[in-house]
Amino acid sequence: MEGTSLYLPIVILLMQCSPSAPVTVSSNNPKVEVREFSDATLSCNFRTETDQNPRIEWKKRGKDVSFVYFDGRFKGSFEGRATIAGATVTLHRVTQEDAGEYRCEISAPLDSVNLGETNITLKVLVPPHTPSCEIPNAAVTGSVVQLRCRDQQSIPPATYTWYKDNQLISPPRHANATYLINSHTGVLEFKAVAKEDTGRYSCQAYNGVGPAKKCEGKHMKIEDVNVAAVVAAVVVIFLVAVVCGCGGLLLHRNGFFSPGHRGRSNVNYIPPPQESQDFKHTQSFML
Ligand SMILES: *[C@@H]1O[C@H](CO)[C@@H](O)[C@H](O)[C@H]1NC(C)=O
Ligand SMILES: *[C@@H]1O[C@H](CO)[C@@H](O)[C@H](O)[C@H]1NC(C)=O
Repeated sequence: MEGTSLYLPIVILLMQCSPSAPVTVSSNNPKVEVREFSDATLSCNFRTETDQNPRIEWKKRGKDVSFVYFDGRFKGSFEGRATIAGATVTLHRVTQEDAGEYRCEISAPLDSVNLGETNITLKVLVPPHTPSCEIPNAAVTGSVVQLRCRDQQSIPPATYTWYKDNQLISPPRHANATYLINSHTGVLEFKAVAKEDTGRYSCQAYNGVGPAKKCEGKHMKIEDVNVAAVVAAVVVIFLVAVVCGCGGLLLHRNGFFSPGHRGRSNVNYIPPPQESQDFKHTQSFML
């Protein structure tokens, strides 16, 4: 009983206030998420005190604040592809460009509190595209090998699963498994590849928006170091070195690298006698 008497003045106060409630603005859905190329409804509800004809404005906050709806018309990129009912706006065929923060502003100059606003965030979801997969053709047994999978466009970001010969590669169950999978970065890493890891690999991107997408499979072959090939390579390098060395020596003999090189005529070049005298002279001078 005492409690009700305590609240009574407040109730009376509220009742007195209610006919002169200021402009109020709200949204049924302040966080809108829609798929790209579909329609987005940005709801804005308002109630005014006495003003029967309040001004409705919509703005979008990007790098700067720009008008979406002003003076009874849609502006800029929204012209011709948006509709308004009351103060609720519907954007048709939204793209990534439309994602962002919107504000519905109602101004009722005749009201005591003459401005009200509500914010609405629009997120435009993008289904996965075919991911790009980096899979090496071949690798040597025991080496660290990374396979990468990426889909840049998905919103929200995709998670990735890997397949070998069309079988799902399950995430490793214990710490010393031979491979790691990071479903968020799309990296499949073999700590030390073995011959059994040879196979056709592919990867799938999924984000809950639209169907998952898989990249085309690619074959990866794991081989031991080919000793015969290494020996052959060493022999080839050795032969090339020998040929180059001999060639160099021959050219040197032919005077190709001497400062006064004059081609083949140098072969029979006989130094004039005074050159040796000059030499003796300088030598005695030095002593
Ligand atoms: C809406 O967002 C702006 C900033 O962008 C902020 O100043 C304002 O207080 C917000 N309004 C509401 C009703 O949350
Ligand atoms: C890791 O490998 C070792 C030897 O291969 C094994 O004894 C151990 O149980 C393994 N640990 C786990 C968690 O599986």
